[in-house]
Amino acid sequence: MDATQMALIHIVSWSVGLILFFVAYTMIKQGKAEKPIKITQMVLRVFYLLIIATGADLFFNHYGMNVEDTQFSEYIIKMVAGIWVIAAIEMTLAKAKKGKKEFSGWLQLVVALILVLVLGFARLPFGFLP
Ligand code: HEM
Repeated sequence: MDATQMALIHIVSWSVGLILFFVAYTMIKQGKAEKPIKITQMVLRVFYLLIIATGADLFFNHYGMNVEDTQFSEYIIKMVAGIWVIAAIEMTLAKAKKGKKEFSGWLQLVVALILVLVLGFARLPFGFLP
């Protein structure tokens, strides 16, 4: 599979992940039953694996993990921020479930998401923006 196809699967994976996050969050807020929320979260976690696998493939197989590259550090930050998005999603959902303050979760999610979108789309070569 070439880089463009892999990038597309990466984009579809995190897009579906974000949608599932909002679905799970809304269900928690609406006080829906435990089971459908759990199932949504299980599906969401499978998408984490897809996000990480396609991200790792882009890095190792298409970028080639080139330490000499001037953008190497941006790749590292992009990947750490990607994991951070996933962590922030988990935190926000856990806090919402327990009825705790969600602000720190949302703040991390927004910051990590902005980082990842700017690096992914605007800075790193496989993005669509110039
Ligand atoms: C929800 C979390 C994530 C979001 C929103 C996200 C977003 C993006 C975006 C917008 C791009 C640029 C378009 C593309 O080429 O697909 C991208 C590319 C990429 N992502 Fe992610 N990503 C996430 C998680 C991850 C993770 C966990 C990793 C590492 C394991 C990762 C590694 C990469 C790599 C290596 C690229 C290619 C960069 C390039 O050469 O242009 N991403 N991601």
